[in-house]
Amino acid sequence: MGQGNGKKRPRVLTGMQPTAVVHLGNFLGAIRTWVALQEDCDCLFFLPDMHAITVPQDPNELRTNTLAGVAAYLACGIDPDRSAIFVQSQVWGHAELAWTLGCHTPIGQLERMTQFKDKAARPGAFIGAGLLYYPVLMAADILLYDADRVPVGDDQRQHLELTRDLAERFNAIHGPVLTMPEPYVAGNCSRVMSLQNPAVKMSKSDGNGLATVFLTDSDEQIRKKFRAAVTDSKKEIRHRGDGSGVANLLEIFSALAGLPVADVEKRHETSSYGAFKDELADLAIAVLAPIRKKFFELQKNPDHLLQVLERGREMAQPIASATVGRINRAVGFLELSKGGETKL
Ligand code: TYM
Repeated sequence: MGQGNGKKRPRVLTGMQPTAVVHLGNFLGAIRTWVALQEDCDCLFFLPDMHAITVPQDPNELRTNTLAGVAAYLACGIDPDRSAIFVQSQVWGHAELAWTLGCHTPIGQLERMTQFKDKAARPGAFIGAGLLYYPVLMAADILLYDADRVPVGDDQRQHLELTRDLAERFNAIHGPVLTMPEPYVAGNCSRVMSLQNPAVKMSKSDGNGLATVFLTDSDEQIRKKFRAAVTDSKKEIRHRGDGSGVANLLEIFSALAGLPVADVEKRHETSSYGAFKDELADLAIAVLAPIRKKFFELQKNPDHLLQVLERGREMAQPIASATVGRINRAVGFLELSKGGETKL
């Protein structure tokens, strides 16, 4: 991290919950942007396992998924020589800062968060205090590293607004100790929708097996899912801005091909839905198959993945420790010198 010409590069911090295999929404809405940001920024990419346990997790599965998350980051093009890759629970300071920030957070603001309301409304859901506190921990993740940019998909926008609110409130009380982060939401495909129900976002936990394209899907599975994707009741391949299945497929096509939606529409002016979907499947396979191959190869060598995490922790910990020290001083926590002598 860092570079020798003395000019400060923006710092980027972001992460993906290690709760299941990465999907096309994560890739197009987030990871692809992260990979590109490595060129001009100092990047920290982490796996928020402490966020994952805000809903019940099988411990062995969480461990497996965390390591798989590292493999996915690497397979998609995150370079451990340039960027820090680490696990949230392995770096001291996330929970400490979250506590202090939480003491500055109005509880009503947390109760109004959309993701909290959605998750809490699920029938039979266990609603732990961690679910309410989730956005405060996320704010701590970001503020702990003085992040300038936070690349995320559209669904995380509200969490970033809260982070900015908290930083502003904290700085107004204690002086300018926290860095104000900027959201960095990818232009197109910041919200990839389910292939089966374009009214909901593509997600890891969708009960419909055809709704989500995973990084680990075979070529045949990818093709099957795109062929079965819902479109609309019209015949034309046009983006009407109506949130239809066709609009979603056009946006996915555009993001995968690196072409504006208008160009994709033109190219498929006379195509049938079937031909369009087949070409989209070809495109997705061309992008995802090499990533899948790398992912499976990386998974065969867990020691290498652990080494990557160890190096990442070494990069992240000094930054986190320095911020916690600064915040603790700002709020008035007593500091003890090395010899145990009290510094007032
Ligand atoms: P998570 O794990 O749900 O998602 C990881 C990233 O993928 C994006 N994403 C999508 N983008 C487009 N279309 C979709 N269907 C789609 N689904 C997911 C998300 O917007 C995200 O960028 N709370 C975060 C994790 C987190 C975090 C942080 C992120 C914890 N602390 C600090 C940034 C900074 C989350 O649950 O993302």
